Amino acid sequence: MKTARPAAAVRVRNVQAGDLAEVAAIDAEITRLPKPEYWPQIYQRYGSGRRQQRFFLVAEAAGRIEGFVIGEVRDWEFGSPRCGWVFAISVRPAARLAGTGSRLLEAICEGFRALGVTTVRTMLARDNSLILSFFRSQGMMAAPFIPLELELDPADAGRQ
Ligand SMILES: CC(C)(COP(=O)(O)OP(=O)(O)OC[C@H]1O[C@@H](n2cnc3c(N)ncnc32)[C@H](O)[C@@H]1OP(=O)(O)O)[C@@H](O)C(=O)NCCC(=O)NCCS
Repeated sequence: MKTARPAAAVRVRNVQAGDLAEVAAIDAEITRLPKPEYWPQIYQRYGSGRRQQRFFLVAEAAGRIEGFVIGEVRDWEFGSPRCGWVFAISVRPAARLAGTGSRLLEAICEGFRALGVTTVRTMLARDNSLILSFFRSQGMMAAPFIPLELELDPADAGRQ
């Protein structure tokens, strides 16, 4: 993994309940899709400290949340030995290209390593060239897995 440039006074730590509004605002700024019910649920599952192999970390600078990363260690899913999954990584647009994303990824990888993980995986939209450039810059390569999906018709719900 590339060594991050020192992002001045950025501290990566476990998320706290009081960070959620800022985390949700960063996500809404990036995705243009506010998710008021989602963030408290994710906090319940991944927040409150590193627990049950789950990580929800934030980067803080001058009392402001600049970005976050969420992930988890999974064992034997998709037939794979233990590995770390990064589900989400986002940095406030105004704070980018200062090494914060690299710091966040390094911090979660450090947590994965402490749990004996030697492989990190993620998934990204094909048309998201920004996140692809970022992950490639960190040394991530195409994995030997293929994502598949199927559209389910909501009208079929309960029919059986
Ligand atoms: C990807 C992201 C997390 C990177 O955060 P960041 O703090 O800017 O990252 P860094 O400063 O650590 O950049 C590390 C490297 O990533 C690559 N990179 C980052 N932004 C880039 C850009 N706009 N274009 C090309 N490469 C880029 C570069 O190689 C960079 O290293 P360099 O500056 O030495 O060239 C941030 O751009 C982001 O939040 N993007 C939106 C993420 C998203 O789509 N989230 C929703 C799905 S999870």
